[in-house]
Amino acid sequence: KSHSYGRPDGEHNWSSNYPFCGGAFQSPIDFQTQLLRYDPNLPPIQVQNYNLATKEQLTLSNNGHSGWCSMIIEYSAAQLHFHWGSSNLLTGSEHTVNGKRFAGEMHVVHFNSDKYPNISMAVDKHDGLAVLGVFIEIGEFNPAFDKFFKYMNGIKYRGTLLSYTFNIHALLPARLDEYYRYDGSLTTPPCYPSVLWTVFRRPVTISRKQVFHENRYSLYASYAQESTTVPLHGNYRKPQIADNRVVLVSFKDGK
Ligand SMILES: *[C@@H]1O[C@H](CO)[C@@H](O)[C@H](O)[C@H]1NC(C)=O
Ligand SMILES: *[C@@H]1O[C@H](CO)[C@@H](O)[C@H](O)[C@H]1NC(C)=O
Ligand SMILES: [Zn+2]
Repeated sequence: KSHSYGRPDGEHNWSSNYPFCGGAFQSPIDFQTQLLRYDPNLPPIQVQNYNLATKEQLTLSNNGHSGWCSMIIEYSAAQLHFHWGSSNLLTGSEHTVNGKRFAGEMHVVHFNSDKYPNISMAVDKHDGLAVLGVFIEIGEFNPAFDKFFKYMNGIKYRGTLLSYTFNIHALLPARLDEYYRYDGSLTTPPCYPSVLWTVFRRPVTISRKQVFHENRYSLYASYAQESTTVPLHGNYRKPQIADNRVVLVSFKDGK
């Protein structure tokens, strides 16, 4: 099922069917300087479990929504998907920094496997999910994304399941010690306020050619059953109110 961002039944009306979308702790937010608080106790993000170079199996599936993939890595599971801009494809990140919107944003979704048996059980729990957000900007060619997008082309048909080993670490920015951390929600319906967000400060780059050419097929989901093409771009939600939330930052010069 695809959720609309445009009028007339767009994101402003999500709460008609999904009340959490109109509730508290919603995401994304704009990382405004006055919301930030430096926390010297935030450790660098550890990603050694992402190195799937050995025999861990990664299962990717496309549900035709916004490029969602389900990944099963040993005892933990995650989903990886992208948010992109609509018309020019150059402004589509969900989180923004003092109003600056990046070209895109990658989300790597994890569930709390210490506490819950699977992502379905965790998705609506306050401590259920942790999502890593990665800003994407236009710049140098990115070989890791090239490899990933080429693989994504193979799963553009909804329901197709393929097994693959992929080093997710390669998709993350080099600096894993600088990030924003706050309590928020899923940015798509049902908008459960169940996400501990970690958004890396430094973007990764992909080239203009990668956005407009190589990623072209990954931006669309062809629904075999519905014989219609659904765009997977223009899928960013507008900034939500911060309420009384504070955004912790692991870097001192952010504040
Ligand atoms: C909002 O959603 C409700 C429930 O699905 C629907 O009845 C209503 O027509 C929608 N409003 C608009 C403006 O699309
Ligand atoms: C998730 O775990 C619950 C409880 O163990 C189980 O009932 C449910 O079928 C599981 N769902 C999936 C999708 O595996
Ligand atoms: Zn997302």
